[in-house]
Amino acid sequence: MIIDMIAGARPNFMKIAALYAVAHEFPSLKLRFVHTGQHYDFKMSDIFLQQLGLPEPDCHLGVGSGTHAVQTAEIMKGYEGWVQQSHPDAMVVVGDVNSTVACALVAAKEGVPVAHVEAGLRSFDRTMPEEINRILTDSISDWLFVTEASGVANLAREGRPLSSIHLVGHVMIDTLLRMMPHAQPPAGVTLQEGTYAFVTLHRPANVDDPTILATLCDQLISTAERMPVIFPVHPRTRARLQDANLWDTLAARVQIVEPVTYFESLWLTKHARVVITDSGGLQEESTALNVPCLTLRKNTERPVTVSDGTSTLIGHDWVLFQQCIAQIMDGAYKRPLAQIPYWDGNAGRRILSILAN
Ligand code: UD1
Repeated sequence: MIIDMIAGARPNFMKIAALYAVAHEFPSLKLRFVHTGQHYDFKMSDIFLQQLGLPEPDCHLGVGSGTHAVQTAEIMKGYEGWVQQSHPDAMVVVGDVNSTVACALVAAKEGVPVAHVEAGLRSFDRTMPEEINRILTDSISDWLFVTEASGVANLAREGRPLSSIHLVGHVMIDTLLRMMPHAQPPAGVTLQEGTYAFVTLHRPANVDDPTILATLCDQLISTAERMPVIFPVHPRTRARLQDANLWDTLAARVQIVEPVTYFESLWLTKHARVVITDSGGLQEESTALNVPCLTLRKNTERPVTVSDGTSTLIGHDWVLFQQCIAQIMDGAYKRPLAQIPYWDGNAGRRILSILAN
């Protein structure tokens, strides 16, 4: 059975890597890597493929950036051509990026069964492009592979057939556990383990409005008075900081660096005193590594990281933010309840086993 594995944006690569890592145990499955090219910079794509040991893409659509409509449409056009020419028996999409929904939609219309890895997550916030992508992808998927119990409840409530829903755990955590021995500090950065804040921000709700972005920068500068702050900057955020004339003030207090590699991100997360982020993946990775995570979002589609894990939803509540920073400094911040069920390094194996059967 030929299965297309779709990846296009940075967090997708870690997820499909977990499936490639166990593919040899399922000789009846032939995986083909389709890279949409949604992310294309060396530091956003190629270095991840190298570190994760992913093969060269069988198909590279090379779509690049654009508005949502343009990017989604270009991916659809490219992937439709590939499907019509190469006839996959099934396909796997991961996560919630534009590449996910675009390729799932093409496959569903071409009669190719769709598997969605990380199905069922809901922020209930339709202003997020990812929420639209998640709802649409789940509604046309044949296999719904879920990372946490909330996803099962969401899919059941939306009327998805129970036989299609599989709580399998998290491929992102599979890759984290497998790759942790390779974790390394970013080149040229000197940080003492357990002493610093690791910051990532890229969501439109945080970076696109200059007033919000300015407040966020003030909070990071105030955090930098208490501990070193390292901030690898996503290309989108870099552009917004420069447009808003905030770059120089921030860079004077906070260590701003280029986007980090996967191995560097693992090291920075594992050894952080606190992670400050709007990334979905980092909320989960910090929970898996038992590191406090202040999530700069009003909601999360990954509620288990708050209820059982190390994340606190801050939104833009800066009083709460400062309280949490104080608790972290005093060692009084909450501890996770337990390991999240099935976040045990075997999610990829469970998924391929279901597909093979
Ligand atoms: C996308 C995903 C988001 C995910 C994030 C991870 C969607 C809707 N959003 O957001 O869910 O959390 O990836 O990073 O799919 N750019 C570069 N080089 C690159 C890629 C992007 O410079 O290699 C710049 C371009 O100016 C581009 C902008 O970043 O316009 C945004 O990229 P895009 O892929 O549209 O969305 P992300 O913000 O990365």
